Amino acid sequence: SVLPVVMAGGSGTRLWPLSRAGYPKQFLVLSGDHSLFQQAVARLGALGGPGITVGAPLIVGNDEHRFLVLDQLREAKITPQALLLEPTGRNTAPALTLAALQAREGGADPVLVVSPADQTVTDGDAFTAALQQAIRIAGNGAIAILGIQPDRPETGYGYIRSTPGEGADMVAQFVEKPDEATALRYIAEGDYSWNSGMFVLKASVWLDALRAFRPDILQATEAAWRARSTDAPFIRPGKAEFAAVPAESVDYAVMEKCPGSKFDIRMVSLAAGWSDLGAWDAVWQVAGKDADGNAQVGDVMLQDSRNTLVHASSRLVSVVGLDDVVVVETADAVMVADRGRSQDVKKIVSQLGACE
Ligand code: GDD
Ligand code: MG
Repeated sequence: SVLPVVMAGGSGTRLWPLSRAGYPKQFLVLSGDHSLFQQAVARLGALGGPGITVGAPLIVGNDEHRFLVLDQLREAKITPQALLLEPTGRNTAPALTLAALQAREGGADPVLVVSPADQTVTDGDAFTAALQQAIRIAGNGAIAILGIQPDRPETGYGYIRSTPGEGADMVAQFVEKPDEATALRYIAEGDYSWNSGMFVLKASVWLDALRAFRPDILQATEAAWRARSTDAPFIRPGKAEFAAVPAESVDYAVMEKCPGSKFDIRMVSLAAGWSDLGAWDAVWQVAGKDADGNAQVGDVMLQDSRNTLVHASSRLVSVVGLDDVVVVETADAVMVADRGRSQDVKKIVSQLGACE
């Protein structure tokens, strides 16, 4: 059986001031009618097919957002198996470990389809076909990762070098978030894909890999799991125990270390209009635009402006004679930026101390 796991505990600082500590980007409606989180859960729920039965999803997120998660699931008519609630974020390796430990309850060993909650996909059929292939590979004990054809030297992603293999491409190398010179080289060399952040593997394989590469994270997360309390659908790991778990991402803790090890790591190519809505420029890229390339949300008036993203939440916002700007207005903060400098919004947030 297949168990969807959605990791929804990130903070999304580059989408400030819309993304806030109490309401981070995965819960925002940034494209289409549903939030990124709702889209992610729905995509995984549609993966069933011949020989593939999909169970109710496990959501791993922050305790602070539990009602947001519950409301959004209810609105999307999705009943979760459980919400695993972290008292503080320890990044994705501990989050996935909580999900794997829950999945192993009663001796079961489902294939976990692990997805971030901050992405969009435009071709649902291509998505389903690629994920179903990954599920078949993972059923045989491999770790399947979903790779994207890159079109720029993005430094915010993981890079996968793959070689053709029997059944599916073999992962020869995995490099998480290279520096710009390295990313440029990878793009020039051409046999690299981006890591989509989606992984498909049996719960037992994840636990075995973590035991092999980061036994400290496994032991600390197991201690927090033993100290858990349940208040269905919420499950909370022990607070003090979880705070002591080393913070690390799935990519650094395990994926980088798999190539060349005893773990069989494979890549399935995903060509489904995938986009990580990490920063405002990416939101503009996928948004519906007028003939001048302007994307507008809310009460907006434009004059002689091109290729802008203007988001008004509570007031009328007007822009005159500017190209390539992002303007995001909320009740208590307004942000104006050069669209090409979207990544630097996180510098403002770090000066603020948090996405307050
Ligand atoms: N439960 C939980 N707890 N979820 C978390 C936590 C945490 O502590 N930290 C992050 N997440 C969630 C985020 O909400 C997001 O949905 C997902 O895990 C991935 O985390 P990001 O912080 O967005 O990772 P990233 O975008 O920097 O990098 C990952 O995704 C890229 C593609 O978008 C990596 O897997 C890269 O290799 C990959 O290219
Ligand atoms: Mg991300």
